[in-house]
Amino acid sequence: MRILICDGPRSIGESAAHVLGGALRRRRRPTLGIATGSSPLEIYGAFARGIEIEDLDLSRLRAFALDEYVGIADDHPERYANVVDREVTTKLGLDPANVSVPDGASSDPDTAAERYERQIEDAGGIDAQILGVGTNGHIGFNEPGSPHDSRTRVVSLTAETRAANARFFDDISHVPTHAVTQGVGTIMGARTIVMVAQGEAKAEAVRHIIDGEVSTRWPGSILQRHPDVTIVLDEAAGHLLEFAGQYRTDAGYPA
Ligand code: GLP
Repeated sequence: MRILICDGPRSIGESAAHVLGGALRRRRRPTLGIATGSSPLEIYGAFARGIEIEDLDLSRLRAFALDEYVGIADDHPERYANVVDREVTTKLGLDPANVSVPDGASSDPDTAAERYERQIEDAGGIDAQILGVGTNGHIGFNEPGSPHDSRTRVVSLTAETRAANARFFDDISHVPTHAVTQGVGTIMGARTIVMVAQGEAKAEAVRHIIDGEVSTRWPGSILQRHPDVTIVLDEAAGHLLEFAGQYRTDAGYPA
């Protein structure tokens, strides 16, 4: 694991874009795994400013979203298909035909989830995966207890996740109770992974993921077993780490 503590949102986005750009540039038909949530927005902003996209043919980029709510109105601004369209497809000028989001509106979401898993396989897997993290350590919508070998599937959201995401809805009762998410095993299949986290609310999860035991209690801790992971944090998200001093990008240590 490579860990960077950056001094602000802009440098988080640019540091993450740098690692992702390196992983994608090597591929003839690159596949990028995209995440919603607030922290990854900095990455799309960096790409949109042209950071790290030289030698990267965006017209050939294939993108797969991590997750989607089940049972959310088609036109709801927080439906991840709409978030991805707004924040990624439009900002980066991607061909919408090359951008996929799990189908949360299907009458048979289990079969739709299996189909999504196969679509990723058929595209040759994910070259570079962007991840945010939940306050409970979830990655995608893989809540605590998610098996390490899980694949794309329908899951129930915990009360903690629904409360954290209530800020995007009129009322907590409107936050969906279920989602379709790439599994922990699906995410671990990506060749390169970049996780971003910002803010004090993420500090405990980040500490467990980086300094703790690998366990299903903190789903992101499995990343310790992946050969190519970079975690990019701000000071508030990273300050509880035992070796925080070594991860600060201005500390003069090798990253
Ligand atoms: C949602 C998403 C996750 C994301 C998390 C954190 O729950 N399903 O993929 O990591 O939010 O979002 P934020 O960065 O806004 O805190």
